[in-house]
Amino acid sequence: MKIVVTGKIPRAGLEVLKNAGFKPDAWSQDSAMSRGELLAKVAGADILVTLLTEKVDAELLEAAGSNLKAVCNVAVGYNNIDVAACKARNVLVTNTPGVLTDATADIAIALILMTTRRLAEGERVIRSQTPWQWGMHYMLGAGVMNRVLGVVGMGAIGIATARRAKVCGMSVIYHSRSEIDPKIASELSATRVSFDDLLSQSDVVSIHCPSNDSTHHLFGKAQFEKMKPTAFLVNTARGPIVDEQALVDALESKQIAGAGLDVFEFEPKINSGLLHRDDVVMLPHLGSATVETRDAMAMLAANNAVAIANNRAPLTPVG
Ligand code: GLV
Repeated sequence: MKIVVTGKIPRAGLEVLKNAGFKPDAWSQDSAMSRGELLAKVAGADILVTLLTEKVDAELLEAAGSNLKAVCNVAVGYNNIDVAACKARNVLVTNTPGVLTDATADIAIALILMTTRRLAEGERVIRSQTPWQWGMHYMLGAGVMNRVLGVVGMGAIGIATARRAKVCGMSVIYHSRSEIDPKIASELSATRVSFDDLLSQSDVVSIHCPSNDSTHHLFGKAQFEKMKPTAFLVNTARGPIVDEQALVDALESKQIAGAGLDVFEFEPKINSGLLHRDDVVMLPHLGSATVETRDAMAMLAANNAVAIANNRAPLTPVG
């Protein structure tokens, strides 16, 4: 059984594979493989353990060959994988839901506070040794108490973000394909609303839906026009959900007040129109970046691989 791990994963994940009797062929460098190296590396694999930086498309499946049984992504999002192409070849796909919920929700809340309270901008003042003095009117932001958080995609991460926001005094509305568990809705006093109502009523919009064909550019010019000029957009999900140029235009024309971004449309490239804006806070995709979360993600992906290798059902299949 040839298990190829296409990116450097925490040792805890490799241990799961080794303890189950496999000898994973694992990439051990910090930087991602080139496409050419990747296509060569996957040849003859039975199972791939992949990172979100690897594009798993028809070309890669072809390069892997007919032994391939499964692609086990070390991420909850799997927009790097062409699931239809996998399905057409009977290749199973798994992801890592659950284990990164809290880490990602923490980053969403951090971005909400950083954008509304101008924290990155304030820190830049200090670091650049720009003269400053406490003043009644100096660097005022917007409080979140009694403000409305609009969650787009009320899955586990959306709910965890809403819980944290409620502790900060925010009220919660959400837009999702389905109603959430009524017990959680009542705990959060969260109301399901139409997408348009969410846009027009929210003081902060936080994106937590998956990235796929139906959510590509879910946020564009028309949506920014429906948001309050005082509202902030936070994205910890995936970059392509937001039309990044439309976001730059919306910020420039003061259609919205600011944005907090952990993900980017053409990651790791950043739209140059965002780079020098004080009303934008940007992080280099840190949503799940804690030691324990990355260990848990790697272990879950490895356990999926072990289950499939042993002809058992995977723990967290996609779809
Ligand atoms: C991280 O971005 C993930 O999808 O797991």
